[in-house]
Amino acid sequence: MRVAIIGQGYVGLTIAVGAAGAGHSVVGFDVNDALVAQLNSGKSHIEGVADTDLAGFISAGSYLASYDPSVLDGCDVIVIAVPTPLDADRNPDLSYVHASSDLISQHVKSPSLIVNESTSYPGTLRKEIAARIKGVEHLYASSPERVDPGNTDWGTKNTPRLIGGLTPAAVAKAREFYASFCDKIVEVSSPEVAEAAKIFENTFRQVNIALVNEFAQIADALGISGREVLDAAATKPYGFMPFNPGPGVGGHCIPVDPSYLAHVANEVGVPATFIKRANEVNLAMPAYVVKRVVAGSGGSVKDKKVVVVGVSYKSNVADTRETPATAVIDLLREQGATVNWHDELVGTWRGETSSPIAGADIAVVVTKHDGVDLDAVNACGYVFDCTGHLAGADGI
Ligand SMILES: NC(=O)c1ccc[n+]([C@@H]2O[C@H](COP(=O)([O-])OP(=O)(O)OC[C@H]3O[C@@H](n4cnc5c(N)ncnc54)[C@H](O)[C@@H]3O)[C@@H](O)[C@H]2O)c1
Repeated sequence: MRVAIIGQGYVGLTIAVGAAGAGHSVVGFDVNDALVAQLNSGKSHIEGVADTDLAGFISAGSYLASYDPSVLDGCDVIVIAVPTPLDADRNPDLSYVHASSDLISQHVKSPSLIVNESTSYPGTLRKEIAARIKGVEHLYASSPERVDPGNTDWGTKNTPRLIGGLTPAAVAKAREFYASFCDKIVEVSSPEVAEAAKIFENTFRQVNIALVNEFAQIADALGISGREVLDAAATKPYGFMPFNPGPGVGGHCIPVDPSYLAHVANEVGVPATFIKRANEVNLAMPAYVVKRVVAGSGGSVKDKKVVVVGVSYKSNVADTRETPATAVIDLLREQGATVNWHDELVGTWRGETSSPIAGADIAVVVTKHDGVDLDAVNACGYVFDCTGHLAGADGI
């Protein structure tokens, strides 16, 4: 099939490479012309796609990146994989999805299968995409992406893929496309079910992470190790699923997607109380971390040298979107500490560059990447660990 993927970020590039590997002819469309040039030179910008694979598909003629919207016309399949963030009031911002739909409306004159993989609330495919695209009778399906960047066990191929379409013909065509590079296809009765399943999966994680974050605080106040309790509870072979406490939640999904569900819940008059409370708990974790660091450092961090180790939102990825490290650093600086950060995967962030660990009075480990120098961390005067990896250190 001739395939266009709108958006060449974490999701779009991953799908592009999956489809190219299945023998499709893929165009990766993105409005970021610098990214397009980088991709066409065979350089991937995400951890899960190797330069060698990308370069191989380019030289075989099965992948090309482009910022020219005319490439969208004449495709069998067009996949939308663009950002769905929150606006300043923490409401869904569908402007990228709308812009993609408008591009299709303007440039695509032959019928195609339009698939939305961007995460959004139920009704997005029907009301925000299909209803906006005029003039051509396309097929429409929703297949929300479940990729977990950095996860080497579960990827595009072996993660079951949900498909819901506006018509049986759309479902059949979407199945044909995805079955060419995904092992298991799960058809659901409507795009709304597929869309809701994706945001409920992430809401389940958000609420459970908030629950363990609150429990970690209770355990600490009781003078017991929250992590030891969680490990003990996890020995129950049924009815319990372990989640880890941490400094908050980051990335494009867990801090964002539940608010999409809360938004539609509000519109239909059902308050999403768990989502609201989980957001409050998770957003308050950086302040809790800083409170504990101050307490563990003799009551003050004023004029102390602090290194925050790991600023991306999760291990072994360079993604700093919504990372709780931002608030941890800002709050420590408000307390008068001199704060540097160390993260060789991230390198440069907020106009600052990664600093060495050695020489700090205090190390706060927010995210632990493989290969980080734990001896250097342990050599700091006081260590606070948010990850559970540093045996014997103070932490959550
Ligand atoms: N990153 C993840 O782990 C993950 C997992 C599952 C689902 N999702 C969802 O997938 C969607 C995309 O997320 P992502 O992480 O790939 O985002 P991203 O920011 O990594 O990439 C999005 C890309 O879209 C491009 N873009 C923006 N507007 C465009 C337009 N009008 N036309 C063409 N390109 C455009 C941007 O330049 C960018 O390169 C979101 O809805 C997200 O919630 C993300």
